[in-house]
Amino acid sequence: MDFVRLDGERLTLVFALEAGGTADCVYLGARLPEGEDLAMIAAAAARGRHENQPDVPPVPGLLPEGKAGWSGTPAVRLRQYGDHTCKECATDFRLAAWEEYPSEVILHFRDTQLDLDIEQAWRIERAEIVTTQASIWNPGNRKLALDRLSALVLPIPRRFTHFTSFAGRWAGEMREASCSIAPEGFARTSTGGKPGFGGGNWLILEDPTSGEVLGAHLSWSGDHDTRIDVDLVGSADGRAVFQMGAGWDSGAIDLAHDGSHHTPVAMIGLASDRSALAQRFHAHARTTVLPARKDWGPRKVHLNSWEALGFNLSEAGLIALAEDAAALGIERFVLDDGWFGGRRNDQTSLGDWFVSPDVFPKGLAPLIARVHDLGMDFGLWVEPEMVSPDSDLYRAHPDWCLHTQGRDRPTMRGQLALDLGRAEVRDYLFECLDALLREHAIAYFKWDHNRDLFPSAPRQTEGFYALLDHLRATHPHIEIESCSSGGGRIDYGVLQRVHRVWPSDNNDAIERLRIIPAWSQFLPLEVLGSHVGPSPNPITGRRLAMDFRAKVAVFGHMGVEADPARMTDKERKCLAAHIALYKAWRGVLHEGALHRLTHPDANITGMMVTHADKALALVAQTAFSPVFDAAPVRLAGLEPEARYRVTLPEPWPPRAKHYLANPDVWREGLVLSGTALMTQGLALPLTHPETAWLVALERLPQ
Ligand code: GLA
Repeated sequence: MDFVRLDGERLTLVFALEAGGTADCVYLGARLPEGEDLAMIAAAAARGRHENQPDVPPVPGLLPEGKAGWSGTPAVRLRQYGDHTCKECATDFRLAAWEEYPSEVILHFRDTQLDLDIEQAWRIERAEIVTTQASIWNPGNRKLALDRLSALVLPIPRRFTHFTSFAGRWAGEMREASCSIAPEGFARTSTGGKPGFGGGNWLILEDPTSGEVLGAHLSWSGDHDTRIDVDLVGSADGRAVFQMGAGWDSGAIDLAHDGSHHTPVAMIGLASDRSALAQRFHAHARTTVLPARKDWGPRKVHLNSWEALGFNLSEAGLIALAEDAAALGIERFVLDDGWFGGRRNDQTSLGDWFVSPDVFPKGLAPLIARVHDLGMDFGLWVEPEMVSPDSDLYRAHPDWCLHTQGRDRPTMRGQLALDLGRAEVRDYLFECLDALLREHAIAYFKWDHNRDLFPSAPRQTEGFYALLDHLRATHPHIEIESCSSGGGRIDYGVLQRVHRVWPSDNNDAIERLRIIPAWSQFLPLEVLGSHVGPSPNPITGRRLAMDFRAKVAVFGHMGVEADPARMTDKERKCLAAHIALYKAWRGVLHEGALHRLTHPDANITGMMVTHADKALALVAQTAFSPVFDAAPVRLAGLEPEARYRVTLPEPWPPRAKHYLANPDVWREGLVLSGTALMTQGLALPLTHPETAWLVALERLPQ
């Protein structure tokens, strides 16, 4: 047995490697001292045999297979084609060799009988995120079909006894559920051709005794398969194995002679608590995932036409909206759905990406020119991967959509999905989008995707990536948002190619107080579109004060998705003041470290970002407080010894300000140590439901 360690600054993995046998991960945790005896680590974790096991108890290790009695899901599943058959193969991959580099270990497995090679690469990235990826090759002559290959296989360290998964639906993304790792394990797969609202491509393992967490993600914009298996039969020792990989709904992959397949990248991050985990993932996103983030300017405040005008578009109406937007301090005007072909409702014209002469008799140029005059840049909604049966594109190419020959073509939102595996489809879409960008000064695409993919399509995600990559290579300055009826396609795979995501169609600030903290567990605030919606909210029907809606929207990439003409003067003034606050604080919010604030009242949500000598917190109360004075809000992430000036940036929530004991003191600022702020906290007036406060901190020179 050999032992290999893979070290980050604060983390170590130890692999136990048996040439001709198995590979296992016997340690994953805080960085081990130099010179630690790795054989002793393995010995301390080893267990003897117990009754009623196979004579050689199965070790699922890093490539679990059914051989030897392991009862969980195998990491690899293959079928072999015979003359008239296609039968599942029994696999027996053994560790053949390994390579060690300073921040990478590559394991080579071989099944000599099937003449197949699997490679598994483990790598520590700059932000201490560990990535894993598997590849399979068929150098031999067997005709094989690959049914499954996991990107991540992790024997779960036994201290992680619980986990949090995320489920959701349209307008209700990322609903957290926590439970213990039970004998029946856990499985979540998506089949809609994208990760979906349920976010099964994210998971957090938890050690409830210490608060330590291990976050995991599959960086892939197609289907996924996430599972935890507890072996109840083979070893029956309570060991659990966690696996993540692409979903296989779109069918097996052909592995003919010299065929190969590479899984998407999966990743894990280890941290002392949920805030530290968020910071680790944010650092990884900022340094490794987001396209050339260092060149990004400040995230501009958007106004999106959808909730303001819907399909009721006209040049004059849009210009009026743009003028109202500019008066609020908006920096980017985004024209949403309805500008192209015959698209006067959602049942028509997807695929006809030509400016509608009915809506814009003089084309888009006058609108864009006015938007520019007003000092804003211009963004446009597109949904390139879709086609309406009622469209010129469909009439010309009825075979370009995903379909089964001779069967019905069921629609969703009146639309079908194009087959992006076909080069001619990608070429057509590239030409349309390229022409729009060449002919108009468009700074931003809101790239939507509103239909699940059925029948499933094997190369759809690769085709989507290829189209985006081609477009970005040709137009390197275009900013793109990934929207999929809200947060239906959010993952690091798409984020390698876009600049922000649309977390939810639900702009209701109370819902956003759940949705944004959930997404921000993995995604930094600068990529999370955060809009002030109308009141009443069109999805929930809730009426919320502008002050509350605007404060909540500051924590993200702020925008407005409502018609300023339908707001009162007071509301417009309040909104403009919050837009100004966002502009003043976005440098902190979009560069800093996010901390989740905890409070004894579950109806109080708090988030805080610290950056250099500044920090901003959002504290929001959703329900009526059971006591008149809510417990003080304890801040986080401050230097204990440093002294901070604390103010409550105005405007203040209208009703709550009457309960502020010393308004003048709050205006001038209280000076308190980091220790006092993190231990005792601040008594904020949080009595009424739907009250939010922003808290600004500035570290004073020593
Ligand atoms: C989807 C998006 C919305 C909006 C509409 C337009 O539902 O999620 O934000 O763009 O499409 O049709």
